Amino acid sequence: MKALINIALIAIASVVIFVIARSTLEIQDRPQVNNCIGECYAAYLAENGTIAEQARAAREAASAANPADLGKALFVTCAACHGAGGEGGIGPQLNARDAAFVVDALNTYKSNVARGPQSAMMFGVAAALSDADIANLAAFVESL
Ligand code: HEC
Repeated sequence: MKALINIALIAIASVVIFVIARSTLEIQDRPQVNNCIGECYAAYLAENGTIAEQARAAREAASAANPADLGKALFVTCAACHGAGGEGGIGPQLNARDAAFVVDALNTYKSNVARGPQSAMMFGVAAALSDADIANLAAFVESL
């Protein structure tokens, strides 16, 4: 009798372990990821284009984006000091500045030339910016 109870307990424990393992491994509804061939692949191509076409579309979208939008993406690195809307903080207020001012200031910092008492804070920031980055940032700041 005792042996029967032990066997029953072991059987129950096995079921519990199996159920837990199955749920944690998520093998129940695993999608079929590697059999998109034939019609499935043709449908994928019709919807998304080939990899090369997707890459070209992404490039075209990037070059078509306007400078202020590109600058906005870069400005997240400036926002900590200048405020998300350029309202100022650790760094001076920027939202009243025009593009030419920003280009001139950033190029000055990029050449490690001081403009104000805290210019050292901008040297490292400006050094990492390309001419295109500076133009895009300037366009965004002017739009604020
Ligand atoms: C670590 C804080 C910090 C970050 C990050 C930062 N700045 Fe600055 N920024 C300053 C400080 C401080 C000054 C004032 C420097 C001085 O005394 O010349 C300044 C000055 C400027 C000026 C000149 C403003 C004026 O009125 O003369 C511009 C333009 C500027 N920053 C743009 C940017 C842009 C664009 C970014 C992002 C790419 C950026 N800054 C990131 C702190 C920062």
